[in-house]
Amino acid sequence: MRLDHIAIAVEALEGSVAFYQRVLGLEHKDTEEVKEQKVRTALLTAGETRIELLEPTAPDSPVARFIARRGQGLHHLAFRVENIEALLDRLKKAGAELIDTTPKRGVGGSRIAFIHPRAGSGVLIELVETPQDHASELPM
Ligand code: CO
Repeated sequence: MRLDHIAIAVEALEGSVAFYQRVLGLEHKDTEEVKEQKVRTALLTAGETRIELLEPTAPDSPVARFIARRGQGLHHLAFRVENIEALLDRLKKAGAELIDTTPKRGVGGSRIAFIHPRAGSGVLIELVETPQDHASELPM
């Protein structure tokens, strides 16, 4: 499994994009609103991985609550996995504390699940299975 993206909770997308894009020189791929999560996201390419900036769009957004409690900063690490169900089964058997015991729908037809920060030494972990990864497992 490899690191798909690193997500950072920010108060205002524009100022943060300006830093990561213009100052650090990362390529800004796109900005998207995810209504269900009450966030706007900006994706920036960083070599093999990506930085995902998360801006809350409502005071009751989970990201707004995160910023209120802990301030801006690292929100989660996302790992790309090939078979999310098999991995969730393995994690359940190992007694890992999961937020999602079954996959839910993510961006672009992906399937995602979160592992509790208590399991990840204080860091929220997202597992992502994309349709391409899944298709690559099918017999030719
Ligand atoms: Co993410």
